[in-house]
Amino acid sequence: MAGGITQVEYWNGEVGTRWARNQAVLDAMFEPLTEALFERAGLNPGATALDIGCGSGATTVEAARRVGAAGRVTGADISAPLLAVARARVGGEAPVSFVEADVEQADLGTFDAALSRFGVMFFPDSLRAFANIRRMLRPAGQLTFLCWRTLSENLWVQVPREAVLPLLPEVPLPPALDTPGPFRFADADGLGALLRNAGFGTVSCAALDRDVILGRGDTDAEAAAAAAHVALNLGPTSHLVREAEPDLRARAEAAVTEALIRHASGGAVRLRAACWLVQAG
Ligand SMILES: C[S@@+](CC[C@H](N)C(=O)[O-])C[C@H]1O[C@@H](n2cnc3c(N)ncnc32)[C@H](O)[C@@H]1O
Repeated sequence: MAGGITQVEYWNGEVGTRWARNQAVLDAMFEPLTEALFERAGLNPGATALDIGCGSGATTVEAARRVGAAGRVTGADISAPLLAVARARVGGEAPVSFVEADVEQADLGTFDAALSRFGVMFFPDSLRAFANIRRMLRPAGQLTFLCWRTLSENLWVQVPREAVLPLLPEVPLPPALDTPGPFRFADADGLGALLRNAGFGTVSCAALDRDVILGRGDTDAEAAAAAAHVALNLGPTSHLVREAEPDLRARAEAAVTEALIRHASGGAVRLRAACWLVQAG
């Protein structure tokens, strides 16, 4: 993992706190993708569901709305700061519970459905994790999740990244194969084989492309500045400048803003996000 730290340290450290602070921005940005996730998951009223790597709980709350009072949803995550945000956003009456647990190994009960919005790419041992998820599903239960396709197809990451790279003293090495990270499951064939090895009998991976809004403002310049802030603080480009000197950070912010303004119109920066919408049963 980044800098040799564990996933628990990563998501409970500065990154988790930053995500927790910016929960509303991220939820708004992922909205078109979330809609597609729920359409595919097809949660029935009265169902029990597990939200894997639920983060600050937007999808857990939406799942609870769909299963209704007769259902139950468990949101599981290893990040205490994100779970604190999640717990604060639900009233006591909602059929939701949040647990701090490692889904790779925890036994969280039995569910009709499991779902995840970008929360399944960070297991140190993916085979073990997906086998554990399969075990927690009833025989007819379905796992439905979103994960990213390649970096180059995800312009919301690629455009700011290309603007930052020329400023760095050295180009960062790509992550080693099959290590936790956002683009780990870009290869759908490999992902399908992994899920089948983990015990899933049927697997479908459908390409899902949506424009996401990286930043908004009263003017396109304001929108580009807001989008640069998101890219350099929250997105997969942020690790490139996280520990950079203030001078480099300032130059990166200027370069990314300049790159993003080319994608701004009507007070919003819109860029293509490319995912796999996966369902396995
Ligand atoms: C990219 S974030 C997505 C968060 C949330 N699903 C959302 O869409 O806002 C990935 C999440 O997976 C969680 N995570 C990573 N490894 C985990 C594990 N082994 N068990 C449970 N959650 C995990 C992280 O703490 C983080 O909240």
